[in-house]
Amino acid sequence: MPAQILRVPMPTPPSERDLQAQPLGSPSTPGKASQSFFASLKPSAQQQQPHRWTLPTAFRQQYGTAQDNLGAGGSGFIFSAVRRSDQKEVAVKLLPVDCVPITSWVKDPDYGCIPREVATLKNIHHSAVVAFIDLFQDEQILLIVMELFGSSWRTSQLKNTDPNPLPLATRPARSRAMDLFELLEVKQLTEEEVRTIFIQLIECVHYLLSQLSLVHGDIKDENILIDWSGPKPVAKFIDFGGAVIVAPGHLCAQGSFRGTIEFASPEIIIGQSYDPEKSESWSLGVLLYSMINRGCGPFATRQATVASPYRPLNCSSLCSHLISRLLDKNPATRATIQEVLQHPWLTKSTRKAL
Ligand SMILES: Nc1ncnc2c1ncn2[C@@H]1O[C@H](COP(=O)(O)OP(=O)(O)OP(=O)(O)O)[C@@H](O)[C@H]1O
Ligand SMILES: [Mg+2]
Repeated sequence: MPAQILRVPMPTPPSERDLQAQPLGSPSTPGKASQSFFASLKPSAQQQQPHRWTLPTAFRQQYGTAQDNLGAGGSGFIFSAVRRSDQKEVAVKLLPVDCVPITSWVKDPDYGCIPREVATLKNIHHSAVVAFIDLFQDEQILLIVMELFGSSWRTSQLKNTDPNPLPLATRPARSRAMDLFELLEVKQLTEEEVRTIFIQLIECVHYLLSQLSLVHGDIKDENILIDWSGPKPVAKFIDFGGAVIVAPGHLCAQGSFRGTIEFASPEIIIGQSYDPEKSESWSLGVLLYSMINRGCGPFATRQATVASPYRPLNCSSLCSHLISRLLDKNPATRATIQEVLQHPWLTKSTRKAL
């Protein structure tokens, strides 16, 4: 059976009062603060009280109450907020400083020392990458303010049982997610719709590689936002925490992978050093397969990823050919990003070609 890719449920979003309600843990034990917060993200620890963060004053002066819970991942927690100056709604990623590895800090001319993830996002200006707006930080947390993007696929009311000690009236009421993972849960995409999304993504991946010598490093449905308020879906990448600078002929060291294992190439899984471009191609193959197959990935286990063929898909022969070029277990013969960009499934412009 193909693997259904799962993710952890979203935690309670903070309201402005919520976020200011309690001081952080003692400065001498900052690690404990983030541990208790992130423990609350795990399904097994749902009954624990989430940690309350104090937002930097400069942020509170410029942005109003947290509105919605947008999502959470391995280290980030994302909520929406409204900019006071023009009432624009933005997305804010809260990252505990402790969650940023010591080797991942870089110097920035505007903000001083910042995580590489932020520096990378700040330097990318592309229509298929969510725009960086601002950064606020103190000793405990970073707040990355970004363009808010996407259509809400599921909007749910937060429940009374949610582990939040504040009265209901003071909490944000809604939780909404706007990424491709959510879209695939609610809708079976047609091949043409998949192609419309995939073209935007591959053009962006090609731009990042050819213009910035960068690979995203964590391509997956959760790191892609989709807005479908118009006739066609529009896609944008987020989360550059796994991005890698590519040097020609240079392999990434084994163990340096910062992406998601279900989207990792066989050479990464078996612990070899790897070509980041070819591993990006593999992740795009898993993504394309999953989009055609309503969120179900091509392999059930890591062992199958390394040693077994993927389950055949019901799609056009051109699409099937592209998937086979991306999910080639041998990185030496796997499609390059340039080859993907020029693949007939993407370059044929009419529906008839599918
Ligand atoms: N700019 C945004 N607009 C709307 N929703 C967003 C935005 N940024 C993130 N999200 C939502 O929040 C989720 C988590 O965001 P993100 O991937 O940046 O965090 P993360 O996975 O915790 O990061 P990391 O991998 O660094 O731990 C996304 O899957 C998406 O649903
Ligand atoms: Mg993510």
